[in-house]
Amino acid sequence: MSPALAKSVEDYHKGVKYLHESGIQRVPKKYIFPISERPNSSYTINGKPKMSLPIIDFSQLHGPNRVQVLDSLSYACENYGFFQLVNHGIPEEVIRSMVDVGGKFFDLPLVEREKYMTTDMTTPVRYGTSFNQTNDGVFCWRDFLKLVCEPLHDVLPHWPSSPSDFREMAIAYSKETKILFIKLVEAILESLGINVTTKNKTQQQNDDVEEILKEFEDGSQLMAINFYPPCPNPNLTLGMPPHSDYGFLTLLLQDEVEGLQVKFNGDWVTIQPIPGSFVVNVGDHLEIFSNGKYKSVLHRVLVNSLKSRISVASLHSLPFNSIIKPSPKLISEKNPILYRDTDFAAFLEYIKSCDSTNKSFLETRKLT
Ligand code: OGA
Ligand code: NI
Repeated sequence: MSPALAKSVEDYHKGVKYLHESGIQRVPKKYIFPISERPNSSYTINGKPKMSLPIIDFSQLHGPNRVQVLDSLSYACENYGFFQLVNHGIPEEVIRSMVDVGGKFFDLPLVEREKYMTTDMTTPVRYGTSFNQTNDGVFCWRDFLKLVCEPLHDVLPHWPSSPSDFREMAIAYSKETKILFIKLVEAILESLGINVTTKNKTQQQNDDVEEILKEFEDGSQLMAINFYPPCPNPNLTLGMPPHSDYGFLTLLLQDEVEGLQVKFNGDWVTIQPIPGSFVVNVGDHLEIFSNGKYKSVLHRVLVNSLKSRISVASLHSLPFNSIIKPSPKLISEKNPILYRDTDFAAFLEYIKSCDSTNKSFLETRKLT
């Protein structure tokens, strides 16, 4: 057997970039999904259907079309769980630099990247492969670097210091996405009828919203830089298995290579990248907070045989120790509580104990 084919379990833990660079010609068994979970040939990268997500023009939010924008936002969160955000105000330069420096990190030799490899889910920085590499029976075709972003002062010394501009670019990017997230939360609260400062509101209502926003300002932020190298048999595997995101909102930056698919009306549909925009999705915590009005929707990632793909996901929620529960303002006799209270500790316990798909975490939070 040629050395390139003789892969061991340890090699799989070195990640798929390593496998790709070692010149494998076929996807190892470890990465082959059961037939029913493989990318269906009619939904592969080059196939149909493709769908345009609702597009939210953020610059219109503070103009005369505010009400329509809020309506579209609400429609998107209820029916798709996803939207594309354009004219969001984050400088192009910040976005480009983040993707560049992320790419440069993955270009570092394995010995350099390996320093951050750990199975401890609570470290401020974690390099890894697949989805949950300790438990996954089948591995997926992804390497990632996860960075805890808060409190910056404590976590920063743990972030990679190479490439030399990594920290600078990642700080700028995390700060900008955090600001954008807060603005989005403000709009989302308003779209849910939990209104923000308008003249028609009482002082008490304004104070309540200020308090919620304040909690989000102190909230958690996690960045995942995902790297999907070319894969010799993209029809046999996935870059990420179907999952929902656990936070409140995820701001996802994808490069120009397609790969993200969202479950819509029972089909997997490919989301075409809009350069410079964000794909924003409702996470489990927002589904719970909205008492089920806004949906945390399954999504997955396909890989391809020609191009690497990079994405940066910024996951935001309340502080790690906060309890996530349906907003009391949305609960009434007609709209009874549908979810159990939850927190990050419960989520971490859950993912430690299960493999690939974490959709059922949200299921465990539902009251029947
Ligand atoms: C994620 C995710 C999609 C992508 O990181 O949770 O869904 O396109 N990423 O990388
Ligand atoms: Ni996701």
